[in-house]
Amino acid sequence: MTDTPIAVVILAAGKGTRMKSDLPKVMHAVAGRPMISHLLDTVSELAPAKVVVVVGPDMDVVTKTVAPHPTCVQADRDGTGGAVKAAASELQGFAGTVLVLYGDTPLVRAETMRNAAAACADGAAVSVLGFQPSHFHQYGRLITDASGALTAIVEARDASPEELDVNLCNSGVMAFDGRHLLGLLDQLDTDNSKGEYYLTDTVRLACAAGHSAAVVEGEEDELLGVNSREDLAVAEAVVQDELRARAMEDGATLVEPATVWFHHDTQLGRDVVVQPNVVFGPGVTVADNVQIKAFSHLEGARVESGAVIGPYARLRPGAQIGVEAHVGNFVEIKNAELGAGAKANHLTYIGDATIGARSNIGAGTITCNYDGFGKYRTTIGAGAFIGSNSALVAPVTIGDGAIVAAGSTIGRDVEKDALSIERAPQVDKPGWAGNFRALKKKD
Ligand code: UD1
Ligand code: MG
Repeated sequence: MTDTPIAVVILAAGKGTRMKSDLPKVMHAVAGRPMISHLLDTVSELAPAKVVVVVGPDMDVVTKTVAPHPTCVQADRDGTGGAVKAAASELQGFAGTVLVLYGDTPLVRAETMRNAAAACADGAAVSVLGFQPSHFHQYGRLITDASGALTAIVEARDASPEELDVNLCNSGVMAFDGRHLLGLLDQLDTDNSKGEYYLTDTVRLACAAGHSAAVVEGEEDELLGVNSREDLAVAEAVVQDELRARAMEDGATLVEPATVWFHHDTQLGRDVVVQPNVVFGPGVTVADNVQIKAFSHLEGARVESGAVIGPYARLRPGAQIGVEAHVGNFVEIKNAELGAGAKANHLTYIGDATIGARSNIGAGTITCNYDGFGKYRTTIGAGAFIGSNSALVAPVTIGDGAIVAAGSTIGRDVEKDALSIERAPQVDKPGWAGNFRALKKKD
Protein backbone atom coordinates (compact mmCIF):
# COMPACT_ATOMS: atom_id res chain seq x y z
CA MET A 1 0.00 0.00 0.00
CA THR A 2 1.04 3.54 -0.59
CA ASP A 3 0.34 7.08 0.47
CA THR A 4 0.42 8.49 -3.05
CA PRO A 5 -2.54 10.87 -3.36
CA ILE A 6 -5.38 9.76 -5.63
CA ALA A 7 -7.51 11.88 -7.94
CA VAL A 8 -10.63 10.17 -9.26
CA VAL A 9 -12.20 10.90 -12.64
CA ILE A 10 -15.60 9.33 -13.26
CA LEU A 11 -16.74 9.18 -16.87
CA ALA A 12 -20.45 9.75 -17.20
CA ALA A 13 -20.89 11.67 -20.44
CA GLY A 14 -21.85 8.71 -22.62
CA LYS A 15 -25.34 8.82 -24.06
CA GLY A 16 -26.08 5.26 -23.10
CA THR A 17 -27.78 4.69 -26.45
CA ARG A 18 -28.21 0.99 -25.75
CA MET A 19 -30.39 1.79 -22.71
CA LYS A 20 -33.00 3.39 -25.03
CA SER A 21 -33.81 5.95 -22.35
CA ASP A 22 -34.31 9.70 -21.84
CA LEU A 23 -32.39 9.40 -18.58
CA PRO A 24 -28.56 9.58 -18.67
CA LYS A 25 -27.29 6.03 -18.24
CA VAL A 26 -25.49 6.67 -14.94
CA MET A 27 -28.78 7.89 -13.40
CA HIS A 28 -30.41 4.49 -13.78
CA ALA A 29 -30.92 3.02 -10.35
CA VAL A 30 -29.52 -0.09 -8.73
CA ALA A 31 -31.02 -0.93 -5.31
CA GLY A 32 -32.93 2.33 -5.59
CA ARG A 33 -30.08 4.77 -6.15
CA PRO A 34 -28.33 5.98 -9.31
CA MET A 35 -25.30 4.01 -10.45
CA ILE A 36 -23.16 7.15 -10.16
CA SER A 37 -24.12 7.52 -6.48
CA HIS A 38 -23.02 3.94 -5.76
CA LEU A 39 -19.64 4.77 -7.25
CA LEU A 40 -19.24 8.05 -5.35
CA ASP A 41 -20.07 6.28 -2.11
CA THR A 42 -17.33 3.70 -2.70
CA VAL A 43 -14.87 6.32 -3.90
CA SER A 44 -15.25 8.25 -0.64
CA GLU A 45 -13.64 5.26 1.14
CA LEU A 46 -10.40 6.03 -0.73
CA ALA A 47 -10.28 9.55 0.77
CA PRO A 48 -9.24 10.94 -2.63
CA ALA A 49 -7.51 14.31 -3.01
CA LYS A 50 -10.16 15.22 -5.59
CA VAL A 51 -13.08 13.72 -7.51
CA VAL A 52 -14.19 15.02 -10.90
CA VAL A 53 -17.18 13.76 -12.86
CA VAL A 54 -17.25 14.16 -16.64
CA VAL A 55 -20.77 14.79 -17.94
CA GLY A 56 -22.38 15.55 -21.29
CA PRO A 57 -23.66 19.04 -22.18
CA ASP A 58 -27.27 18.19 -21.36
CA MET A 59 -26.84 16.39 -18.07
CA ASP A 60 -27.83 18.82 -15.33
CA VAL A 61 -29.48 15.98 -13.49
CA VAL A 62 -26.10 14.24 -13.14
CA THR A 63 -24.39 17.49 -12.07
CA LYS A 64 -27.01 17.94 -9.34
CA THR A 65 -26.72 14.35 -8.20
CA VAL A 66 -22.93 14.38 -7.83
CA ALA A 67 -22.71 17.81 -6.13
CA PRO A 68 -20.65 19.02 -4.33
CA HIS A 69 -18.13 17.18 -6.51
CA PRO A 70 -17.24 19.30 -9.56
CA THR A 71 -18.20 18.29 -13.06
CA CYS A 72 -16.43 18.91 -16.37
CA VAL A 73 -18.49 19.00 -19.54
CA GLN A 74 -17.36 16.91 -22.49
CA ALA A 75 -18.82 18.98 -25.32
CA ASP A 76 -18.42 16.33 -28.06
CA ARG A 77 -18.91 12.77 -27.07
CA ASP A 78 -15.76 11.71 -28.78
CA GLY A 79 -14.96 8.67 -26.67
CA THR A 80 -13.58 7.66 -23.29
CA GLY A 81 -10.22 9.26 -24.11
CA GLY A 82 -12.00 12.48 -25.06
CA ALA A 83 -13.87 12.34 -21.75
CA VAL A 84 -10.68 12.23 -19.67
CA LYS A 85 -9.27 15.05 -21.83
CA ALA A 86 -12.31 17.09 -20.83
CA ALA A 87 -11.13 16.81 -17.22
CA ALA A 88 -7.53 17.83 -18.06
CA SER A 89 -7.85 21.28 -16.51
CA GLU A 90 -8.64 19.62 -13.14
CA LEU A 91 -5.63 17.28 -13.45
CA GLN A 92 -3.00 19.78 -14.55
CA GLY A 93 0.06 19.49 -12.29
CA PHE A 94 -1.35 16.56 -10.30
CA ALA A 95 1.55 14.16 -9.73
CA GLY A 96 -0.27 11.44 -7.79
CA THR A 97 -2.33 8.53 -9.17
CA VAL A 98 -5.32 9.33 -11.37
CA LEU A 99 -7.97 6.65 -11.06
CA VAL A 100 -10.43 6.60 -13.96
CA LEU A 101 -13.78 4.93 -13.34
CA TYR A 102 -16.71 4.43 -15.67
CA GLY A 103 -20.05 5.60 -14.37
CA ASP A 104 -21.64 2.53 -15.93
CA THR A 105 -19.44 0.16 -13.88
CA PRO A 106 -20.90 0.92 -10.47
CA LEU A 107 -20.12 -2.09 -8.31
CA VAL A 108 -16.34 -1.94 -8.01
CA ARG A 109 -15.22 -2.42 -4.42
CA ALA A 110 -12.94 0.13 -2.72
CA GLU A 111 -10.23 -2.46 -2.15
CA THR A 112 -10.17 -3.30 -5.86
CA MET A 113 -9.87 0.37 -6.75
CA ARG A 114 -6.99 0.65 -4.27
CA ASN A 115 -5.22 -2.31 -5.89
CA ALA A 116 -5.45 -0.72 -9.35
CA ALA A 117 -4.10 2.57 -7.98
CA ALA A 118 -1.30 0.83 -6.06
CA ALA A 119 0.11 -0.70 -9.26
CA CYS A 120 0.73 2.83 -10.56
CA ALA A 121 2.23 4.02 -7.33
CA ASP A 122 4.57 1.00 -7.65
CA GLY A 123 5.94 2.14 -11.00
CA ALA A 124 3.45 1.40 -13.81
CA ALA A 125 2.48 4.35 -16.01
CA VAL A 126 -0.92 2.72 -16.58
CA SER A 127 -2.69 -0.05 -14.75
CA VAL A 128 -5.85 -1.75 -15.89
CA LEU A 129 -8.31 -3.71 -13.83
CA GLY A 130 -8.94 -6.88 -15.80
CA PHE A 131 -11.40 -9.71 -15.34
CA GLN A 132 -12.58 -12.87 -17.06
CA PRO A 133 -16.26 -12.67 -18.02
CA SER A 134 -18.16 -15.96 -17.91
CA HIS A 135 -20.65 -15.09 -20.68
CA PHE A 136 -20.58 -13.69 -24.20
CA HIS A 137 -19.43 -10.07 -24.04
CA GLN A 138 -18.18 -7.01 -25.91
CA TYR A 139 -15.47 -5.91 -23.49
CA GLY A 140 -12.08 -4.68 -24.67
CA ARG A 141 -9.46 -7.49 -24.77
CA LEU A 142 -6.23 -7.20 -22.77
CA ILE A 143 -3.36 -8.21 -25.03
CA THR A 144 -0.18 -9.45 -23.38
CA ASP A 145 3.26 -10.35 -24.77
CA ALA A 146 5.12 -13.65 -24.37
CA SER A 147 6.27 -12.61 -20.89
CA GLY A 148 2.68 -11.89 -19.84
CA ALA A 149 3.18 -8.11 -19.78
CA LEU A 150 0.26 -5.95 -20.94
CA THR A 151 0.96 -4.35 -24.32
CA ALA A 152 -2.43 -3.11 -25.59
CA ILE A 153 -6.20 -3.07 -25.14
CA VAL A 154 -8.17 -3.88 -28.27
CA GLU A 155 -11.87 -3.07 -28.43
CA ALA A 156 -14.04 -6.07 -29.36
CA ARG A 157 -15.27 -4.39 -32.53
CA ASP A 158 -11.70 -3.67 -33.66
CA ALA A 159 -10.27 -7.05 -32.66
CA SER A 160 -8.97 -9.85 -34.91
CA PRO A 161 -10.45 -13.35 -34.38
CA GLU A 162 -7.34 -14.34 -32.38
CA GLU A 163 -7.65 -11.26 -30.19
CA LEU A 164 -11.35 -11.97 -29.64
CA ASP A 165 -10.37 -15.38 -28.24
CA VAL A 166 -8.60 -13.63 -25.33
CA ASN A 167 -10.86 -13.76 -22.33
CA LEU A 168 -8.96 -11.36 -20.07
CA CYS A 169 -10.93 -8.14 -20.45
CA ASN A 170 -10.90 -4.46 -19.59
CA SER A 171 -13.31 -3.63 -16.77
CA GLY A 172 -12.95 0.07 -17.55
CA VAL A 173 -11.16 0.84 -14.30
CA MET A 174 -7.76 2.27 -15.16
CA ALA A 175 -5.17 4.06 -13.08
CA PHE A 176 -2.48 6.41 -14.37
CA ASP A 177 0.67 7.97 -13.08
CA GLY A 178 -0.49 11.59 -13.08
CA ARG A 179 2.86 12.72 -14.47
CA HIS A 180 2.30 10.81 -17.73
CA LEU A 181 -1.46 10.94 -18.22
CA LEU A 182 -1.89 14.24 -20.04
CA GLY A 183 1.02 13.47 -22.39
CA LEU A 184 -0.56 10.11 -23.28
CA LEU A 185 -3.97 11.71 -23.88
CA ASP A 186 -2.38 14.20 -26.30
CA GLN A 187 -1.20 11.30 -28.46
CA LEU A 188 -4.61 9.62 -28.83
CA ASP A 189 -6.16 9.49 -32.30
CA THR A 190 -9.53 8.44 -33.67
CA ASP A 191 -8.24 5.83 -36.07
CA ASN A 192 -10.65 3.05 -35.05
CA SER A 193 -14.05 1.62 -35.94
CA LYS A 194 -15.97 4.15 -33.81
CA GLY A 195 -13.89 7.16 -34.87
CA GLU A 196 -13.46 8.04 -31.16
CA TYR A 197 -10.59 8.76 -28.80
CA TYR A 198 -10.24 5.49 -26.92
CA LEU A 199 -8.80 5.84 -23.43
CA THR A 200 -7.72 2.24 -23.79
CA ASP A 201 -5.13 3.21 -26.45
CA THR A 202 -3.05 4.77 -23.66
CA VAL A 203 -1.72 1.29 -22.85
CA ARG A 204 -0.15 0.86 -26.32
CA LEU A 205 1.17 4.43 -26.22
CA ALA A 206 2.69 4.02 -22.76
CA CYS A 207 4.47 0.83 -23.81
CA ALA A 208 5.75 2.51 -26.99
CA ALA A 209 7.23 5.26 -24.82
CA GLY A 210 9.10 2.65 -22.77
CA HIS A 211 6.84 2.77 -19.71
CA SER A 212 5.31 -0.29 -18.14
CA ALA A 213 1.61 -1.19 -18.05
CA ALA A 214 0.14 -3.48 -15.40
CA VAL A 215 -2.96 -5.66 -15.10
CA VAL A 216 -4.69 -6.18 -11.78
CA GLU A 217 -7.36 -8.88 -11.86
CA GLY A 218 -10.74 -8.54 -10.17
CA GLU A 219 -13.98 -10.50 -9.81
CA GLU A 220 -16.61 -10.47 -12.53
CA ASP A 221 -19.53 -9.59 -10.26
CA GLU A 222 -18.02 -6.26 -9.20
CA LEU A 223 -16.76 -5.33 -12.64
CA LEU A 224 -19.78 -5.80 -14.82
CA GLY A 225 -20.50 -2.84 -17.08
CA VAL A 226 -24.09 -1.73 -17.61
CA ASN A 227 -24.87 -0.95 -21.24
CA SER A 228 -28.42 -2.28 -21.59
CA ARG A 229 -31.51 -2.85 -19.46
CA GLU A 230 -30.54 -6.49 -19.31
CA ASP A 231 -27.13 -5.59 -17.83
CA LEU A 232 -28.92 -3.31 -15.36
CA ALA A 233 -31.02 -6.25 -14.18
CA VAL A 234 -27.85 -8.33 -13.72
CA ALA A 235 -26.27 -5.53 -11.64
CA GLU A 236 -29.45 -5.30 -9.57
CA ALA A 237 -29.36 -9.04 -8.90
CA VAL A 238 -25.73 -8.84 -7.76
CA VAL A 239 -26.44 -5.98 -5.36
CA GLN A 240 -29.62 -7.57 -4.03
CA ASP A 241 -27.72 -10.76 -3.24
CA GLU A 242 -25.13 -8.71 -1.35
CA LEU A 243 -27.79 -6.84 0.62
CA ARG A 244 -29.58 -10.09 1.49
CA ALA A 245 -26.32 -11.67 2.63
CA ARG A 246 -25.54 -8.63 4.76
CA ALA A 247 -28.99 -8.66 6.43
CA MET A 248 -28.54 -12.35 7.30
CA GLU A 249 -24.99 -11.81 8.55
CA ASP A 250 -26.34 -9.08 10.83
CA GLY A 251 -28.82 -11.52 12.36
CA ALA A 252 -32.04 -11.29 10.35
CA THR A 253 -33.85 -14.39 9.05
CA LEU A 254 -34.97 -14.15 5.43
CA VAL A 255 -37.25 -17.12 4.95
CA GLU A 256 -36.87 -17.03 1.16
CA PRO A 257 -34.06 -14.54 0.48
CA ALA A 258 -34.44 -14.36 -3.28
CA THR A 259 -37.95 -12.86 -2.92
CA VAL A 260 -37.01 -10.02 -0.57
CA TRP A 261 -36.12 -6.76 -2.31
CA PHE A 262 -33.91 -4.29 -0.45
CA HIS A 263 -33.17 -0.62 -0.92
CA HIS A 264 -29.46 0.13 -0.51
CA ASP A 265 -30.10 1.87 2.84
CA THR A 266 -32.43 -0.67 4.49
CA GLN A 267 -31.47 -1.33 8.10
CA LEU A 268 -32.67 -4.48 9.86
CA GLY A 269 -31.98 -5.34 13.49
CA ARG A 270 -31.23 -8.74 15.03
CA ASP A 271 -33.79 -11.51 15.10
CA VAL A 272 -35.95 -9.76 12.56
CA VAL A 273 -37.88 -12.34 10.52
CA VAL A 274 -38.78 -11.38 6.98
CA GLN A 275 -41.23 -13.67 5.24
CA PRO A 276 -41.27 -14.05 1.42
CA ASN A 277 -42.12 -11.29 -1.03
CA VAL A 278 -41.40 -8.24 1.07
CA VAL A 279 -40.26 -4.99 -0.58
CA PHE A 280 -38.20 -2.34 1.21
CA GLY A 281 -38.26 1.12 -0.38
CA PRO A 282 -35.97 3.98 0.67
CA GLY A 283 -35.38 4.92 4.30
CA VAL A 284 -36.58 1.90 6.29
CA THR A 285 -35.20 1.13 9.73
CA VAL A 286 -36.38 -1.96 11.57
CA ALA A 287 -35.39 -2.61 15.20
CA ASP A 288 -34.77 -6.04 16.78
CA ASN A 289 -37.30 -8.88 17.03
CA VAL A 290 -39.70 -7.52 14.45
CA GLN A 291 -41.72 -9.87 12.24
CA ILE A 292 -42.46 -8.70 8.71
CA LYS A 293 -44.93 -11.05 7.15
CA ALA A 294 -45.36 -11.91 3.49
CA PHE A 295 -46.19 -9.39 0.77
CA SER A 296 -45.62 -6.28 2.86
CA HIS A 297 -44.29 -3.05 1.32
CA LEU A 298 -42.35 -0.57 3.48
CA GLU A 299 -40.79 2.79 2.64
CA GLY A 300 -39.65 5.74 4.76
CA ALA A 301 -40.76 3.87 7.87
CA ARG A 302 -39.34 3.14 11.30
CA VAL A 303 -40.47 -0.03 13.07
CA GLU A 304 -39.66 -0.49 16.76
CA SER A 305 -38.76 -3.74 18.47
CA GLY A 306 -41.22 -6.59 18.74
CA ALA A 307 -43.70 -5.13 16.26
CA VAL A 308 -45.55 -7.38 13.80
CA ILE A 309 -46.13 -6.11 10.27
CA GLY A 310 -48.34 -7.77 7.68
CA PRO A 311 -49.07 -9.93 5.83
CA TYR A 312 -50.00 -7.47 3.06
CA ALA A 313 -49.23 -4.33 5.07
CA ARG A 314 -48.15 -1.06 3.50
CA LEU A 315 -46.00 1.39 5.46
CA ARG A 316 -45.50 4.68 3.66
CA PRO A 317 -43.14 7.59 4.39
CA GLY A 318 -43.38 8.88 7.95
CA ALA A 319 -44.89 5.69 9.37
CA GLN A 320 -43.52 5.06 12.88
CA ILE A 321 -44.60 1.80 14.39
CA GLY A 322 -44.11 1.56 18.16
CA VAL A 323 -42.76 -1.25 20.31
CA GLU A 324 -44.87 -4.43 19.94
CA ALA A 325 -47.49 -2.67 17.84
CA HIS A 326 -49.37 -4.75 15.24
CA VAL A 327 -50.13 -3.72 11.67
CA GLY A 328 -52.17 -6.36 9.91
CA ASN A 329 -53.39 -7.21 6.45
CA PHE A 330 -54.43 -4.47 4.03
CA VAL A 331 -53.50 -1.74 6.47
CA GLU A 332 -51.87 1.39 5.02
CA ILE A 333 -50.06 3.83 7.31
CA LYS A 334 -48.63 7.16 6.16
CA ASN A 335 -47.05 9.99 8.16
CA ALA A 336 -48.45 8.55 11.36
CA GLU A 337 -47.26 7.17 14.68
CA LEU A 338 -48.75 4.00 16.06
CA GLY A 339 -47.98 3.91 19.79
CA ALA A 340 -46.46 1.00 21.70
CA GLY A 341 -48.72 -2.05 21.72
CA ALA A 342 -51.36 -0.38 19.52
CA LYS A 343 -53.10 -2.55 16.95
CA ALA A 344 -54.52 -1.92 13.51
CA ASN A 345 -55.04 -5.45 12.34
CA HIS A 346 -57.29 -5.30 9.31
CA LEU A 347 -58.26 -3.15 6.31
CA THR A 348 -57.46 0.32 7.57
CA TYR A 349 -56.02 3.62 6.36
CA ILE A 350 -54.17 5.70 8.92
CA GLY A 351 -52.75 8.91 7.44
CA ASP A 352 -51.45 12.05 9.22
CA ALA A 353 -52.28 10.65 12.63
CA THR A 354 -50.98 9.95 16.11
CA ILE A 355 -52.35 6.82 17.76
CA GLY A 356 -51.68 6.41 21.48
CA ALA A 357 -50.23 3.34 23.15
CA ARG A 358 -52.42 0.18 23.30
CA SER A 359 -55.24 1.70 21.26
CA ASN A 360 -57.18 -0.65 19.02
CA ILE A 361 -58.15 0.46 15.57
CA GLY A 362 -61.00 -1.70 14.27
CA ALA A 363 -61.28 -3.22 10.80
CA GLY A 364 -62.22 -0.75 8.12
CA THR A 365 -61.34 2.39 10.09
CA ILE A 366 -60.36 5.32 7.87
CA THR A 367 -58.75 8.59 8.89
CA CYS A 368 -60.30 11.07 6.44
CA ASN A 369 -57.23 13.29 6.24
CA TYR A 370 -57.75 15.09 2.93
CA ASP A 371 -60.49 17.43 1.71
CA GLY A 372 -59.13 17.79 -1.80
CA PHE A 373 -56.95 20.76 -0.78
CA GLY A 374 -55.16 20.24 2.54
CA LYS A 375 -54.15 17.44 4.87
CA TYR A 376 -55.42 17.30 8.47
CA ARG A 377 -54.40 15.36 11.54
CA THR A 378 -56.18 12.77 13.61
CA THR A 379 -55.03 12.37 17.20
CA ILE A 380 -56.11 9.34 19.21
CA GLY A 381 -55.09 9.02 22.86
CA ALA A 382 -53.83 5.97 24.72
CA GLY A 383 -56.03 2.91 25.28
CA ALA A 384 -58.81 4.11 22.95
CA PHE A 385 -61.02 1.70 21.02
CA ILE A 386 -62.16 2.64 17.54
CA GLY A 387 -64.99 0.35 16.40
CA SER A 388 -64.94 -1.23 12.96
CA ASN A 389 -65.83 0.77 9.89
CA SER A 390 -65.45 4.16 11.55
CA ALA A 391 -64.59 7.27 9.57
CA LEU A 392 -62.56 9.82 11.54
CA VAL A 393 -62.91 13.16 9.78
CA ALA A 394 -59.77 15.18 10.52
CA PRO A 395 -58.87 17.42 12.16
CA VAL A 396 -60.22 15.46 15.08
CA THR A 397 -59.04 14.29 18.50
CA ILE A 398 -60.22 11.18 20.35
CA GLY A 399 -59.33 11.23 24.06
CA ASP A 400 -57.54 8.55 26.08
CA GLY A 401 -59.68 5.49 26.75
CA ALA A 402 -62.59 6.70 24.59
CA ILE A 403 -64.71 4.25 22.61
CA VAL A 404 -66.03 4.99 19.16
CA ALA A 405 -68.91 2.72 18.24
CA ALA A 406 -68.63 0.69 15.04
CA GLY A 407 -69.85 2.38 11.90
CA SER A 408 -69.58 5.94 13.24
CA THR A 409 -68.49 8.98 11.27
CA ILE A 410 -66.72 11.18 13.81
CA GLY A 411 -66.27 14.85 12.92
CA ARG A 412 -66.08 16.39 16.43
CA ASP A 413 -63.57 15.72 19.20
CA VAL A 414 -64.41 12.89 21.61
CA GLU A 415 -63.63 13.32 25.31
CA LYS A 416 -61.42 11.05 27.36
CA ASP A 417 -63.27 7.85 28.41
CA ALA A 418 -66.44 8.87 26.50
CA LEU A 419 -68.48 6.67 24.16
CA SER A 420 -69.19 8.26 20.83
CA ILE A 421 -71.77 6.70 18.57
CA GLU A 422 -72.95 8.16 15.30
CA ARG A 423 -75.27 5.99 13.24
CA ALA A 424 -78.93 5.81 12.22
CA PRO A 425 -81.14 4.06 14.84
CA GLN A 426 -81.64 0.36 14.19
CA VAL A 427 -85.15 -0.58 13.08
CA ASP A 428 -86.34 -4.20 13.72
CA LYS A 429 -89.41 -5.71 12.05
CA PRO A 430 -90.11 -9.20 13.48
CA GLY A 431 -91.15 -11.81 10.85
CA TRP A 432 -90.68 -9.40 7.96
CA ALA A 433 -88.07 -11.48 6.12
CA GLY A 434 -90.11 -14.71 6.33
CA ASN A 435 -93.22 -12.94 4.98
CA PHE A 436 -91.17 -11.43 2.18
CA ARG A 437 -89.83 -14.84 1.09
CA ALA A 438 -93.28 -16.42 1.20
CA LEU A 439 -94.63 -13.62 -0.99
CA LYS A 440 -91.83 -14.05 -3.51
CA LYS A 441 -92.36 -17.84 -3.74
CA LYS A 442 -96.01 -17.31 -4.74
CA ASP A 443 -94.99 -15.10 -7.73
C1 UD1 B 1 -15.50 0.58 -22.49
C2 UD1 B 1 -14.05 0.26 -22.87
C3 UD1 B 1 -13.89 -1.26 -22.96
C4 UD1 B 1 -14.29 -1.90 -21.65
C5 UD1 B 1 -15.71 -1.47 -21.24
C6 UD1 B 1 -15.97 -1.92 -19.82
C7 UD1 B 1 -13.15 2.08 -24.21
C8 UD1 B 1 -12.81 2.56 -25.59
N1 UD1 B 1 -13.72 0.88 -24.13
O1 UD1 B 1 -16.36 0.16 -23.54
O2 UD1 B 1 -12.53 -1.58 -23.26
O3 UD1 B 1 -14.21 -3.31 -21.77
O4 UD1 B 1 -15.84 -0.04 -21.26
O5 UD1 B 1 -17.31 -1.70 -19.43
O6 UD1 B 1 -12.88 2.77 -23.26
N2 UD1 B 1 -18.16 7.95 -21.81
C9 UD1 B 1 -17.97 9.33 -21.77
N3 UD1 B 1 -17.80 10.01 -22.95
C10 UD1 B 1 -17.79 9.38 -24.15
C11 UD1 B 1 -17.96 7.98 -24.19
C12 UD1 B 1 -18.15 7.30 -23.00
O7 UD1 B 1 -18.00 9.93 -20.68
O8 UD1 B 1 -17.61 10.09 -25.16
C13 UD1 B 1 -18.37 7.23 -20.54
C14 UD1 B 1 -19.73 6.56 -20.48
O9 UD1 B 1 -20.68 7.41 -19.82
C15 UD1 B 1 -19.46 5.31 -19.65
C16 UD1 B 1 -18.00 5.02 -19.90
O10 UD1 B 1 -17.43 6.20 -20.44
O11 UD1 B 1 -19.65 5.54 -18.27
C17 UD1 B 1 -17.79 3.85 -20.88
O12 UD1 B 1 -18.43 4.15 -22.12
P1 UD1 B 1 -19.13 3.04 -22.98
O13 UD1 B 1 -19.60 3.67 -24.24
O14 UD1 B 1 -20.11 2.30 -22.17
O15 UD1 B 1 -17.89 2.10 -23.33
P2 UD1 B 1 -17.94 0.54 -23.63
O16 UD1 B 1 -18.36 0.33 -25.04
O17 UD1 B 1 -18.69 -0.14 -22.56
MG1 MG C 1 -19.98 0.50 -21.09
